Amino acid sequence: MCLSPASRIDVLLTAAFLSLDLPAALARAVPATRPDLGDFQCNGALAAAALVGRTGRAIAEDIAAYLRQEPAFAEVSVAGPGFINLRLSAAFIAQGLDAVAADDRLGIPDEGRARRVVLDFGGPNVAKPLHVGHLRSLVLGESLRRIHAALGWSTHADAHLGDWGLQMGMLSAAIRRTDPTLAFFDSEAVVPFPATAPVTLRELERLYPEAAAACREDPGRMAEARADTAALQAADPGLTALWRSLRALSLSSQAADFERLGVRFDALDGESDVRDAIAPLVARLRACGVATASEGAVVIEVAEPTDSSPVPPLLLAKSDGAAFYATTDLATLEARASVPGLARVVYVVDQRQALHFEQVFRAARKAGIAHDVELVHAGFGTVNGPDGKPFKTRSGGMARLADLLDDAVARAAERLSSSGYGMDLYGAQREALTRQVGVAAVKFADLSGDRLSGYVFDPARMVAFEGRTGPYLQYACVRLRSLLARAAGEVVGPAQASAPVERDLALHCLSFGDTVSEAARLYQPGVLAAYAYTLAQHFSRFYGECPVRAEPDPATRASRLALCVLTERVLTRCLDLLGIEVPLRM
Ligand code: ARG
Repeated sequence: MCLSPASRIDVLLTAAFLSLDLPAALARAVPATRPDLGDFQCNGALAAAALVGRTGRAIAEDIAAYLRQEPAFAEVSVAGPGFINLRLSAAFIAQGLDAVAADDRLGIPDEGRARRVVLDFGGPNVAKPLHVGHLRSLVLGESLRRIHAALGWSTHADAHLGDWGLQMGMLSAAIRRTDPTLAFFDSEAVVPFPATAPVTLRELERLYPEAAAACREDPGRMAEARADTAALQAADPGLTALWRSLRALSLSSQAADFERLGVRFDALDGESDVRDAIAPLVARLRACGVATASEGAVVIEVAEPTDSSPVPPLLLAKSDGAAFYATTDLATLEARASVPGLARVVYVVDQRQALHFEQVFRAARKAGIAHDVELVHAGFGTVNGPDGKPFKTRSGGMARLADLLDDAVARAAERLSSSGYGMDLYGAQREALTRQVGVAAVKFADLSGDRLSGYVFDPARMVAFEGRTGPYLQYACVRLRSLLARAAGEVVGPAQASAPVERDLALHCLSFGDTVSEAARLYQPGVLAAYAYTLAQHFSRFYGECPVRAEPDPATRASRLALCVLTERVLTRCLDLLGIEVPLRM
């Protein structure tokens, strides 16, 4: 475990503050806002002024005098009303580089301490192919899973399938209409029922929208769907077998999309998995008065006096006992909390569901469900079309995720050819490269920036090899690796950072661990996307100005090679945390 420069400086600042009888809590270093004055700064003297009745400037001068004795700093200065500017010494940076090079974790702290976090993302519904709306949940969720794992959490990724409720009844009723003679609908049937679905995937994907539209228009069709839903929920054996076969069929196609995106789940549990827990939960919450009857339904009041806009009650059950979306979420949370060590649940779901999660979290608190668990809704903005509105196909429908990826991969193929990359690769190798570049392009664009903002899905721009793109970072990494391969066998390290471009690169590498923490604290993989881009830029400036293998002085050459090795490790790890694969060759 190695400390970041900021943490090492905090130790020295703390000693300085305590020597002046000032609170240690104020001894904090932050990256300098004026890099011309230092690498870090401390603003604690200003806050201390209010406590001790001296000017900030005078306190800052005292602290600066103390810190000037420390070999860690090449320069300590005081600016304005009491900002302390700190420029690190070459020795301090060299020690940091040594420590991080010896650390498998590259400075990433162990914050999780093996505590358990459930990441709820993806959330596909049975019978519907994954569409553009699932992209962000999958990509952000996978990255947040990797970030938590890197920070020492024990992670559990769960897709929370939408596999229970009216949509299932709509489907079985529609299938019955096409073929009422199927064994699934025969109450006298001799079990076992067929395990394979009576429709193909394509048929299933067509069937659902048709059935849903028919139910909206025709009350008779809706009544059939409701009757089937009720029968399924009452465990009718034929309908249960049909449901199971449809669920498996649609999961097989969704699993292919997960695989393509490099997303891994520990469990593909669904709403149906808590079906037996719902009635007892509703009964218990009614009995203790947390849930009350209201206008023909059972609800949990979750409004709070401080609410600036109204928070309506959570709908827990219809009068006939049927469950709502929020009911399955509460029951699922209760089930998750029964696994020992659960400390956090992160729901990576569209920001338009923010109110739903607020209601669920408040209801859980009231009901004593998962009471010591941190509940987080990491919402996100929409993927938009060129018009800035949520992305639709030309015909106005939901764009399939697989089609979007196909499009990006096709554009990656064009771009690779026109830029002359990977020209010596053929067949399967070239196909793998094209896939990796196309998928990385989509993922990086999705992860960059603030997750709460929407962005325009522009595959032509995403696959560019210049600018803030996935392919640019992949190429930077591949080039760096080929440089290292050519230097195989040469002496590496110890690393020194002498030239300004070397210092910038070194300090950026040393801040990796803090950046991973920050990304987790904010649930923002975009913090790491920005970090990776800046790292590549620092590296390219360094490489432009500082010869590595052509450097005649052996010590300087060994030091620069060490910087290259460290940059490659940090960039690779950072891209891995974003879920971006680096091709072997480009
Ligand atoms: N299936 C849901 C939907 O399509 C998303 C599920 C999100 N996760 C959850 N625990 N509610 O909207």
